[in-house]
Amino acid sequence: MYRYLTAALLATVIPSSFGYNLVREHAGQNFFDGWNFYGGWDNLTNSQVWWLNEETATSAKLAYINDAGHAIMKVDNTSVLTQGQKRSTIRIESENLYDLGSVWVVDMVHMPFGCSVWPAFWTKGPVWPNNGEIDILEAINLMTSNQMALHTTQGCTHPAPPTGAQTSHNGGQDCGTGDGCTVQETADNSYGTGFNNAGGGVWATQFDASGIFIWFWSRPNVPQNLQGATSSTLDISSWGPPSASYASSANCNVTEYFSPQQLIFDIALCGDWAGVDSIYRSQCGSAGPTGDCYQDMVLGPGSGKYDEAYFEVSYVRAYTDGTPTPTATPQTTVTSTALATTTPSIAVNQNTASSAGVESSPLLFTNMVVLAAGFAAAFYTLTLV
Ligand SMILES: *[C@@H]1O[C@H](CO)[C@@H](O)[C@H](O)[C@H]1NC(C)=O
Ligand SMILES: *[C@@H]1O[C@H](CO)[C@@H](O)[C@H](O)[C@H]1NC(C)=O
Ligand SMILES: *[C@@H]1O[C@H](CO)[C@@H](O)[C@H](O)[C@H]1NC(C)=O
Repeated sequence: MYRYLTAALLATVIPSSFGYNLVREHAGQNFFDGWNFYGGWDNLTNSQVWWLNEETATSAKLAYINDAGHAIMKVDNTSVLTQGQKRSTIRIESENLYDLGSVWVVDMVHMPFGCSVWPAFWTKGPVWPNNGEIDILEAINLMTSNQMALHTTQGCTHPAPPTGAQTSHNGGQDCGTGDGCTVQETADNSYGTGFNNAGGGVWATQFDASGIFIWFWSRPNVPQNLQGATSSTLDISSWGPPSASYASSANCNVTEYFSPQQLIFDIALCGDWAGVDSIYRSQCGSAGPTGDCYQDMVLGPGSGKYDEAYFEVSYVRAYTDGTPTPTATPQTTVTSTALATTTPSIAVNQNTASSAGVESSPLLFTNMVVLAAGFAAAFYTLTLV
């Protein structure tokens, strides 16, 4: 009886459309085609990094294809930084935006990890938070499990789904707050050393009018149809319940809160989550003499401290259920980089060419405050550590 009930509940939250076609693959020597490198300091989460442009990232060997044919995106672990400098890392955003009716699959062999390190693989629409954000992989410092989340404007909530609909722990329920509505992964080895020692793993995200569903498998558990050579079609019906199930409902209709999404990889250091004093100290306070994220980790030599701070990605694949096809990123105008007060650790004038020199802007300030307030909250994290 219980089984039937569960099956019936699942039927209501797992979409009926199971057939997907490959529309884009990032893999091998061409992995970096179709991504835009950020090319600026982190004016989004106030982290102590400079996200290099493509040319600098390539010449500094912080973004490259390794001998295994995998994409490496890493933190600079060779420079010695002095007070005021930011450490160079990578943030890339897909040129394609994917509409409802998509599945994105990422296969990683290694993820960035360690004190101060804040990696993420996530998606967002062109306007934040109005167009929604999906955090597929995101955690900080010495956390041992991944935290998934949605971020939206006010009005979208995520009460605990019916038993059996999602395999992981429901966290904060209000997607409109700073931390978003979170789900804590309960499968083993979803983050950090555990993930890396297990040989990595795979996340798949279904972005559908019926909801947003995120699956995670550590390497030994990756389903058959995601192993081996690329297939032009994908059937997700055998995957079972996802780690996180954000089914569209009266609490939150995905079609109302999410526009087409672009995919993003980034690595931040310290900043509005990993670097918040109380959070950082509880996990990494004894990692250096001062207990301060920036002083103890980012400054001085990168060698040793950031040797594990890299993504090694074997592929990103995007599938759609037929229509519509992905669209190109809308052109945005670069307004200013004048707020940058520090220099990148690899000093090349990569960021001045397009600077228009806007000194201050109320809108910019508002955005910063909203973002800072958003990421700084992180009360949920406190309960984790
Ligand atoms: C979500 O909104 C769309 C368009 O307004 C509607 O067709 C759909 O039935 C709604 N879904 C739910 C679960 O309320
Ligand atoms: C940087 O890290 C890599 C591994 O990610 C390691 O092979 C290399 O030796 C490190 N470089 C320095 C200068 O420590
Ligand atoms: C961050 O800087 C980029 C240019 O590098 C700019 O386009 C963007 O609007 C800025 N964002 C915020 C929130 O300040």
